[in-house]
Amino acid sequence: MSDTPAPVPEPLRSAALAADLEAADLRSEPLRRLWGEEADDALARGMREPILRAVADDTSVLATLGRLLVLGMPQPRRLVEAALPRLGVDGLVALGLATADTELVTPTALLRPQSFVDADGIGEWWIASDLDEVALDGALPSDHVLGVGGASRTLAELVVPLQVERALDLGTGCGIQALLVARRAGSVVATDISARALAYAELNAQLNGVSNIEFRQGSMFEPLAGEAFDLIVSNPPFVITPRSEGVPEYEYRDGGLVGDALVEQFVRTAPAFLTPGGIAQLLGNWESKGGVTGLARLEAWVPGELDLWVIEREQLSPLAYAELWIRDGGTTPRDAAFTPLLTAWLDDFAARDVSSIGFGYVLLRRGSGTPLRRTERLAQPVSGVGAALGVGIQAHDLLAQGMPAMLLTATDVTEARHLMPGNDDPSVIELRQGGGFARTVNVDPALAAFVGACDGDLTVGQIAAALADLFEVPFRELWDDLEPRIRSLVFDGFLVAAE
Ligand SMILES: C[S@@+](CC[C@H](N)C(=O)[O-])C[C@H]1O[C@@H](n2cnc3c(N)ncnc32)[C@H](O)[C@@H]1O
Repeated sequence: MSDTPAPVPEPLRSAALAADLEAADLRSEPLRRLWGEEADDALARGMREPILRAVADDTSVLATLGRLLVLGMPQPRRLVEAALPRLGVDGLVALGLATADTELVTPTALLRPQSFVDADGIGEWWIASDLDEVALDGALPSDHVLGVGGASRTLAELVVPLQVERALDLGTGCGIQALLVARRAGSVVATDISARALAYAELNAQLNGVSNIEFRQGSMFEPLAGEAFDLIVSNPPFVITPRSEGVPEYEYRDGGLVGDALVEQFVRTAPAFLTPGGIAQLLGNWESKGGVTGLARLEAWVPGELDLWVIEREQLSPLAYAELWIRDGGTTPRDAAFTPLLTAWLDDFAARDVSSIGFGYVLLRRGSGTPLRRTERLAQPVSGVGAALGVGIQAHDLLAQGMPAMLLTATDVTEARHLMPGNDDPSVIELRQGGGFARTVNVDPALAAFVGACDGDLTVGQIAAALADLFEVPFRELWDDLEPRIRSLVFDGFLVAAE
């Protein structure tokens, strides 16, 4: 357990701190300019020395707050008093973010500016979280409250940009997802099993002037009995952890169950907490075991009448998975603890016949009509995932009503033709998507011609009739061949319905 106290959120003090941070311009770009891009990037890789060297003799307000709050290093009291004129050192201590004596202020938390890209564009937040391994100079306590990490950013980017009445962030941690969805929700409920995490999340909401979030403590869906949400987002504690003695159980990543049971529990339970049409989105890990792929197991957990779209981004072997998460806890192969931990992980996977572990995103929807069921592997770099998921869902609903009368080729689509040397006819024609899921699909000349003609002049029926003439095939035959592939191009955003 942590030796440092949890924050004590208090609106007036938080507002004073926010005003001081604003006046100091404690934002990502000014800090990056202050200590340089290379030092800034080095901090992201766990090195604070380059920043310390860059601002060693700098007693400015920004450098002082940077060392104190971004790096988590003690600073002279007189400098901190000058840097926080509204809150003062006593106020910072009262918020539970530092301890102080007459000479020195010692931070007990980090407070960093975090810039974010989501479907609404770039945002910047101040996010307080526990001191990290670098600031602690050692392993993390089991009740550590994580700051914004890679997984937080992944989830933020994949949330479908919908305006909703009620949203839920389950396992809110420092509160970053709740803050993000609060921009597009009437109200948000943010839950966590950890009172410490909720204290950070509440403080962060106050610091960022966000007032439409209600915080509740409890495990999984327990604190939400009888309620329903239009949007549920969660970066749950999905890390698969062996239940053997000596293996640390980090609250921030481990829900205490065996294997991927926490993800199973989540996807089985979440639908009951969705309004009709409501969407749940989460990150997760799933095991391929006993000869059944993780994607097939996941699909079996979700009743057939629900929409389910799973995108698996990565698959790791048991060894690669174990190494990843042992290192994440701060233990490296040079440490004596590494081998016993590796043995525990590999034994657990072997005992349960796990051959690989998938990582990806899950989207569930309480849709109506023909359910959307799609599980796929996408390893290529992606962008604007939230918007792309939204396009897919909308297209699914549209196609359920029939083929749109007129289709347009999306503006980010290009065509590549590959020819054998000396041949005039292409042996491969590819359609490539510039954004979103950046898909590439192989098409035949008829489908390529169809897509090429979707420029707003002719209806779908007129294009198909012209192609039947051109290729000298009966219309019905051509249409039966093209239609499912056109539908698939509409779902994937290569073709869009004209307004
Ligand atoms: C990976 S962190 C996610 C934090 C944050 N939402 C983000 O995206 O960065 C998982 C969070 O789930 C919380 N948690 C762990 N077990 C839980 C449970 N049984 N019920 C609810 N929350 C839980 C942890 O305390 C932690 O804050």
